[in-house]
Amino acid sequence: MKKRLLLTLILFAGSLQAQPSTKGVESLSGDLRGLLSMEMLQIEQGMHKIFSHMVRGDYQEVNKIALNIRDSFILKRKLTKAQRVELRKLPKAFLQLDQSFHEAAGDLANAAEFGDKDTVVEYYQKMVGKCVQCHANFATHRFKNFEE
Ligand code: HEC
Repeated sequence: MKKRLLLTLILFAGSLQAQPSTKGVESLSGDLRGLLSMEMLQIEQGMHKIFSHMVRGDYQEVNKIALNIRDSFILKRKLTKAQRVELRKLPKAFLQLDQSFHEAAGDLANAAEFGDKDTVVEYYQKMVGKCVQCHANFATHRFKNFEE
């Protein structure tokens, strides 16, 4: 009798774990993860380009690329309804961080539009900080060095 109860408990615990995971990026479908990966690589390239233009004072280019990054948010892409529902499973903190990252890109674009040297640097730094913050919190499966 006891054994059966234990077995039931184990099965129950197992079924809880089998629920759709709210753990994070690793629980996304392959399609969506592929999109995220692609977006990340584009963002990284964009940041490299911004760096080069920033140190040369090419603010028009900085503005253009920063706007691209701002609008690259996968939530803003044309996703299927199912994919949108899927994205909502991600932790709130992840979505907020992503949003604030894209806002910083918008702020950088604005500063570049006005050729505001110091503010351009400030927002560039802010964006870099967010890459690291998000990877350290939500991408340790990919970037093992951030594991504690
Ligand atoms: C809100 C969270 C978040 C922010 C902000 C963020 N990343 Fe990521 N990034 C991730 C996650 C999660 C992964 C791992 C995706 C996976 O599971 O493969 C990732 C993966 C990557 C990868 C690896 C892509 C691949 O598949 O090879 C690169 C490169 C990258 N990010 C660059 C950046 C750069 C550069 C920035 C900032 C300018 C940035 N990311 C900002 C969440 C973020």
